[in-house]
Amino acid sequence: METTDNHIVPSHVSIIMDGNGRWAKMRNQERWVGHAEGVNRVRDVLKTAAGAGVKYLSLYAFSEENWKRSEAEVEALMSLMMKSMLGEIDNLDKEGVRFVVLGNRARLNDSLNRTIDACMARTAGNTVITLIIFLSYSGKWDILQAVQRIAAEAADHSGVAESIDMDTISSHLVTSGYPDPDLIIRTSGETRISNYLLWQAAYSEFYFTDTLWPDFGEKEFLEALDNFSKRDRRYGKTK
Ligand code: FPP
Repeated sequence: METTDNHIVPSHVSIIMDGNGRWAKMRNQERWVGHAEGVNRVRDVLKTAAGAGVKYLSLYAFSEENWKRSEAEVEALMSLMMKSMLGEIDNLDKEGVRFVVLGNRARLNDSLNRTIDACMARTAGNTVITLIIFLSYSGKWDILQAVQRIAAEAADHSGVAESIDMDTISSHLVTSGYPDPDLIIRTSGETRISNYLLWQAAYSEFYFTDTLWPDFGEKEFLEALDNFSKRDRRYGKTK
């Protein structure tokens, strides 16, 4: 964490981007129009976050549950992801953004996976800010895949099961190597975690706003940072 102008800036801000569909419906538009406008806010918020000194910005872009949406909407979201990566990667790289995708990659198609790998490899050495896109992700899936890998490792070595501790689990989640979020923002008036970072959110601060994601720009993001800077984080301890 960094202090600027007496403000505590969260090192890792994570956002549950919600309300794209409602934003589009209010304008008598198809849902994908809301998602497309949502990509513009991703660009704005990433720039604002980097300028404020945030080191990790993570975004819940597509949950494991989102696969249950209509084929047309899933297809629209996957193409938007592909198009956004191809269109933005030069600029992201130029701006020093390290681009990371985490989630159940086995469910993504080959060309999307290849593009993700290429974008991650190209920006791996960048240090201004890390942008993590959670794609085909859910918190319960993450814990399950960690437990399966730990069990597979334990099966080969007697005594390993007994040595499993909190750090063992953390280091087998897909987020291993990345810090837990300090601040989790959810837009659109919903106040749920919706199977997001269940383990990693243990001590996150939450910020809920009625603003729909396509309306959540620089001003709204800075308001959330300002609100965070006034919180008293005690991690279960007394003052
Ligand atoms: C939630 O709104 C939003 C999503 C499920 C998708 C979010 C994805 C983007 C903004 C595109 C991200 C692109 C990149 C490159 C990161 P909703 O559809 O659930 O809205 P509703 O609750 O109003 O129906």
